Amino acid sequence: MDVFRINGGRPLRGEVTVSGAKNACLPIFAATLLTGETCVIENVPDLSDLRFMAEIIENLGAEVERPDKNTWRITAKNITHRAPYDLVRRMRASVCLLGPLVARLKKAEVSLPGGCVIGPRPIDLHLKGLAKLNCEVDVRAGYVHIDAKRARGGHVFLGGRHGSTVTGTANILMAAVLTPGVTRIESAACEPEVVDLCKMLLSMGAKIEGVGSHCLTIEGVDKLNGTTYRVIDDRIEAGTYLIAAAMLDADITVNGAHPEDLSALLDKLEEAGADFSIELGGRIRMRGTPGTLNPVDVITLPHPGFPTDLQAQMCTLMSVTPGLSIITERVYPNRFMHVPELQRMGADIAIEGASAIVKGRRNPLSGAPVMASDLRASAALILAAMAAHGETWVQRIYHLDRGYENFDEKLRGLGADVERLNQDQMPKDLSGES
Ligand code: EPU
Repeated sequence: MDVFRINGGRPLRGEVTVSGAKNACLPIFAATLLTGETCVIENVPDLSDLRFMAEIIENLGAEVERPDKNTWRITAKNITHRAPYDLVRRMRASVCLLGPLVARLKKAEVSLPGGCVIGPRPIDLHLKGLAKLNCEVDVRAGYVHIDAKRARGGHVFLGGRHGSTVTGTANILMAAVLTPGVTRIESAACEPEVVDLCKMLLSMGAKIEGVGSHCLTIEGVDKLNGTTYRVIDDRIEAGTYLIAAAMLDADITVNGAHPEDLSALLDKLEEAGADFSIELGGRIRMRGTPGTLNPVDVITLPHPGFPTDLQAQMCTLMSVTPGLSIITERVYPNRFMHVPELQRMGADIAIEGASAIVKGRRNPLSGAPVMASDLRASAALILAAMAAHGETWVQRIYHLDRGYENFDEKLRGLGADVERLNQDQMPKDLSGES
């Protein structure tokens, strides 16, 4: 297992380039199962989650090749309909195989994914949606069994307690593109990753209207063709660098930061008084001076609201911003596992229900050994370590490696003192691992 050793207080200078979006690639990989022809997917980040998704797809019978580090070629001529527990439990996003299997094979057996550290993540809306397409849906012995022999287009409402569902929308969309008749998805998620999936499906010959809106209309076609598709840049990775730069001594340019995908974050950073400029070609320049921002309140919401995947990083930023701010989670009300670790570094944060009440101060953080609990919590702790006095050891970096390509290398390129080491190289008295 790897750990990061970080010495805080280093200024950031220069340029960093964002990788392709993991959360766009995952359903796009699944969508390659919709055709027997070859799909070439470009701008794929080199991440464990995507290598794993490719392994599942290969296990279903597809031919999977990787002509270079960021390109995958997938041909799903003959595939089976069963995704077993020992594969699916390792990554819950594999539930997005349901839609393509239903569409292509008219049947699917996919294991239920199991628990998740960021809170309950049911798939009731996915199943409700498939039932509305006249599929027979049965959950037994830990598996979802779908019989889609009589599937036809239908009217599906995908709004739940926490808003629309991203992967649920992807599933129904992928099921509908090869299902006879017209399907209307209302309260569809409109995250840029869903838009990207729609664009990939359009390039395969799907008929979809309303792309980017909360109402998608899909006319089923008989067959889809192969495609070559370039995945969008990762808005969450871009947002993470922008937040880092806003709180440190920094002057950096983020390439692949598309302002139209980052509106809610940029709006909050502007309200906080951050000094940034939007340049041509998907570039944002951010200049930071520690302790000079104003506190802001944040509420996470489905897109175009403030993304939950930047909430933890925002907690770090507000911890070093003098004044009081309230950060409320509306998508995953329990997603605050980073808070106890930030507290260990000196942050003053109290959790009240689904809100973090952050009493920011100038320079409150000091280096400490901390544990990453999930992907975005890892990023928040690394940012905190870069703002802290002294040395921080961040353990369980495998969470970070699921979603940030070469994060340590990219941060070093900007001047941060971040080193990737093996757990064995960490002093035993600092490691909390048993
Ligand atoms: N929900 C339901 N029922 C459902 C589906 C979802 O109640 O059937 C609830 C969830 O429990 C949650 C909310 O609806 O409270 C939103 O869940 P959604 O289905 O939109 O999330 P997801 O598709 O499982 C994706 C990303 C997450 C990101 C969320 C929200 C992927 C692979 N994952 O998850 O990314 O936080 O959308 O934007 O695309 C991450 O990258 O760190 C990450 C967790």
